[in-house]
Amino acid sequence: MDIPRHLAIIMDGNGRWAKKRLLPRSAGHREGLRRMISLSEHAFDRGVEYVTLYALSTENLSRPKEELDGLFSLFRKYFAENIERLKKKGIKLKVIGDTALLPPDIAALSREGENGTAGGEKGTLVLAIGYGARQEILAAVNAAVRAGKELSQEDFSALLSTAGIPDPDFLIRTGKEKRLSNFLLWQAAYTELYFSDKLFPSFTNADLDRAFENYAARDRRYGKVEP
Ligand code: IPE
Ligand code: IPE
Ligand code: MG
Repeated sequence: MDIPRHLAIIMDGNGRWAKKRLLPRSAGHREGLRRMISLSEHAFDRGVEYVTLYALSTENLSRPKEELDGLFSLFRKYFAENIERLKKKGIKLKVIGDTALLPPDIAALSREGENGTAGGEKGTLVLAIGYGARQEILAAVNAAVRAGKELSQEDFSALLSTAGIPDPDFLIRTGKEKRLSNFLLWQAAYTELYFSDKLFPSFTNADLDRAFENYAARDRRYGKVEP
């Protein structure tokens, strides 16, 4: 079966999952974090080489302070409890997004996590925190303007935060919405899209297996005609 080499997930629906259960939104995020860890391990076990997870967008940064503080605490917990585990499994961590928008200790933990796992050769986990694709594209355009030279697609890709990482083959969005919400707009030009109505904390490893089956049945033509 053809497994995507690079899987990206827009992890949406934590708040609604909690609301349905009359729980605070933070409970949805906590459960979402558990799912995130399990799903990414499952993906690597299935042979995926790159897993990119949309954990916080630049636009999410204007949510109420209380919710953001809860999310930041969860990121701290994630870094504290998972870096050793990633290291043991040979998974390299990469954090993308504007860390200047985050509390300084989270930016520091991200760098430490990246440095601590830099030797990983089995896979790469890309965590998008404070990430926005338009912001990323504009930063690259401005760098190119400053350098004063025209770019090829490869040159442009190399200026993005995902430099060196192949484009995603398969992108899953949970939580019913059918949109990209400012995620990987350049990189997803030919990505296969999959939308699940399940809210992220309810999206199981078996759901991921079903999504992989759906991916394997697709015909990626890249604009060409069938041979
Ligand atoms: C996704 O869940 C996680 C983040 C954006 C941080 P939401 O918090 O967007 O959950 P819903 O969409 O309100 O249910
Ligand atoms: C997208 O979810 C961002 C993440 C999952 C991190 P949102 O909940 O922010 O997206 P919209 O607001 O529904 O577009
Ligand atoms: Mg949402």
